Amino acid sequence: MSATKRIVLSSDHAAINLRQAVATHVTAKGYEVVDIGPTTTESTHYPLHGKAAAEHVASGECDLGIILCGTGQGIMMAANKVPGIRCGVCSDTFSATMIRAHNNANMLSIGARVVGEGLALEIVDAYLDAEFEGGRHGTRVDMIEG
Ligand code: RB5
Repeated sequence: MSATKRIVLSSDHAAINLRQAVATHVTAKGYEVVDIGPTTTESTHYPLHGKAAAEHVASGECDLGIILCGTGQGIMMAANKVPGIRCGVCSDTFSATMIRAHNNANMLSIGARVVGEGLALEIVDAYLDAEFEGGRHGTRVDMIEG
């Protein structure tokens, strides 16, 4: 495992079960999980949870974040509004590797209504096991930050 230790998790109501599976999986991989909920399946608003998780990463309280909603799209959009956050939605393992290797994504978003649990956990593995390559990719990531 890399130096990364703490991962914040959040979701909306559409992804409670998958978030719990991700929490169990990531914990078993040796990471410390900071699960900020929600804890019930009551309908909620994904922007609140994307922003809250992103603030945990942007503040340095957590090293990385994994967020989930029905498609992964809305919560990703909310997270990316927080300065310093680079979050990508992934439905395949290649993209999950590359958002870390080339984009230095500090958050991963997954759609619980898009992928099943087995693929979702492989996406999480691909993301966490990848490392940022730096070099020309660092120059480009710096350009994103303005
Ligand atoms: C909730 O119904 C759904 O809109 C949400 O989980 C997500 O898919 C939004 O992007």
